Amino acid sequence: MALKLMAFYLKNKHFTLLFLLFLWVYNCKNDEKLAEEQPVEKTVEYEMYKPSEMSIFMNAMYAYNLSLKAQIVAGETPTSMPLDLLKLHSAEMTDGKGRTENWQSFVNVFIASQEAVADTLSNTELKVRYNNAIANCLNCHKTECTGPIPKIRKLLIQ
Ligand code: HEC
Repeated sequence: MALKLMAFYLKNKHFTLLFLLFLWVYNCKNDEKLAEEQPVEKTVEYEMYKPSEMSIFMNAMYAYNLSLKAQIVAGETPTSMPLDLLKLHSAEMTDGKGRTENWQSFVNVFIASQEAVADTLSNTELKVRYNNAIANCLNCHKTECTGPIPKIRKLLIQ
């Protein structure tokens, strides 16, 4: 048996070498395939964490208030409120979550207080109006979505 194999090898040296070479190339191809597949998996993972319309709007509100805070601390008077706050009534939430009774009781108070920050005719001190709007973010968050509370609290002007 061993002799026969040896004889086969000697007779077909080139064929055997080619066969080994083929195996080696084939292995490399497999590795390449794995390397190519990984980014695809990552994309799928990313899509699972796609933020909701409401999350995106919340982050826009956060960014707007961060810039308001910088303006107020610098002694400037904000005069515009570029956000479409009515989106709070229409934006879709994560996993199609609905609006709770608590949400309904806080949302309009919040909208009024956020609009009041850029109201140049108000008699109330600017810093008080601003902190009032942030307090209303926090009021709703206490029951609706507690995760971002520490981040929102940092928006308050001391
Ligand atoms: C009426 C209730 C309510 C008010 C007012 C409110 N939020 Fe939210 N906020 C929510 C809910 C509910 C979510 C979760 C949304 C979702 O998962 O789709 C959320 C999510 C967030 C998030 C997380 C977004 C993310 O990345 O997933 C941040 C940050 C945030 N809010 C900041 C604020 C700020 C700043 C204010 C005030 C300017 C504010 N919120 C006012 C209810 C509210």
